Amino acid sequence: MNPDTRTRSAGPARSADSAGSAAAAAEDATALRERAAAALTTARRRTLALTDCLDDAELLAQHSPLMSPLVWDLAHIGNQEELWLVRTAGRRPALRPDLDHLYDAFRHPRADRPELPLLPPDPARRYLREVREQSLDVLDRAGTDAGAGPLLAGGFVFGMIAQHEQQHDETMLATHQLRRGPAVLDAPAPPPAPADAAELPREVLVPAGPFTQGTSTDPWALDNERPAHRVRLAAFRLDTTPVTNAAYQEFIADGGYHEPRWWTPEGWAHRCQAGLVAPLFWQRDGEGWLRLRFGREEPVPGDEPVVHVSWYEADAYARWAGRRLPTEAEWEKAARHDPAADRSLRHPWGDHDPGPLHANLGQHHLQPSPAGSWPAGAAPCGARQLLGDVWEWTSSDFAPYPGFAAFPYREYSEVFFGPEYKVLRGGSFAADPVACRGTFRNWDYPIRRQIFAGFRTARDADPGESA
Ligand code: AVJ
Ligand code: FE
Repeated sequence: MNPDTRTRSAGPARSADSAGSAAAAAEDATALRERAAAALTTARRRTLALTDCLDDAELLAQHSPLMSPLVWDLAHIGNQEELWLVRTAGRRPALRPDLDHLYDAFRHPRADRPELPLLPPDPARRYLREVREQSLDVLDRAGTDAGAGPLLAGGFVFGMIAQHEQQHDETMLATHQLRRGPAVLDAPAPPPAPADAAELPREVLVPAGPFTQGTSTDPWALDNERPAHRVRLAAFRLDTTPVTNAAYQEFIADGGYHEPRWWTPEGWAHRCQAGLVAPLFWQRDGEGWLRLRFGREEPVPGDEPVVHVSWYEADAYARWAGRRLPTEAEWEKAARHDPAADRSLRHPWGDHDPGPLHANLGQHHLQPSPAGSWPAGAAPCGARQLLGDVWEWTSSDFAPYPGFAAFPYREYSEVFFGPEYKVLRGGSFAADPVACRGTFRNWDYPIRRQIFAGFRTARDADPGESA
């Protein structure tokens, strides 16, 4: 049996032991509906918080050519929900079919979106409310068992739409970070690192052998995470924590940005053309560095994972350090493989949802946690902070797993497969738990730095180091 099929996710999967009883099944369906409603409500609260704090002019403005005006994200969230949840899964009549073309991401590149006749902020908010009312009605009435069809089974479409909204919320938070002007967002600093953070081994060992990558059972997993498949890897060593600002500053101080031998040819060409000398949002301050973070300037904290670096910079740093980026499969094995049970966990710490001590997720803080934080969230191999804090660049191109099938639309994943996108794993402080798990895959161009991305490094284990 495939170990992934033994995984009891904390998600809305119906547990095998309750399948025999109709009463227990009804209770499961109720719990699933509550979970779906909560995921939708959590996402909407965040969407409104990220947009209610700015006036209409700021919502309509394009703060960077890389990003949409925030009003575009706002109504796009509603339009996607109308399309897939209300119309397709719920078979309800269209509310605003006239909006479809405006909010189709493939019809209008981000740079062109400010010129479109977009819904102004208040009509956009009203549209979101009207769509949501329909969605909750679908949730009340639609079935969620296998007979209800693939979109509704296990509540998939509700999870998919909640994840879509949360992904756009993370994108909107990146727009906030690019925005110039007085700060409008606030959050407490994350807790300090635990006492043992300074004594952690620099790297952990992941022994050779097979593990199960991806999932066939997690009901809210997206198409690119499927299906589960066995992958055999050689032994490797992985950084216990993401690379810190202090370590990255050593690369800068050693002339890393001026030494072509650390860079791939494309990376070096990009570094020269874009004039890269430090992570995005950093500025020299005498011998040290300052950074701009959501409208406030502050010294760069040495013990935090570095963030806002491109894949090219991460790759160059790794080569300078005599190491390499982990492959996507290595990252997932480190994050999920439990050698004691020979199966893949849903999260590094187990199958249950993140609690307040497992990871820095959900925008509770507006920055990553110090390296070595969240010991309760450590993986079986000993690595920390694999989920939350910063997205981690891997060396891998975004490619389908064997047996991949696009669902429910090719434009979520399939059209992006290929060598021009690199895979990121693990989620950031700005990722919500509903859109973050050991199997979750993100991707972007290797030049991108506005996303909340850092990295950790790896190397092949020494021969004979592990069977
Ligand atoms: C998976 C984060 C790359 O934002 O482009 C949002 C997610 N897909 N709407 C993106 C997504 C459609 C996607 N990423
Ligand atoms: Fe979208």
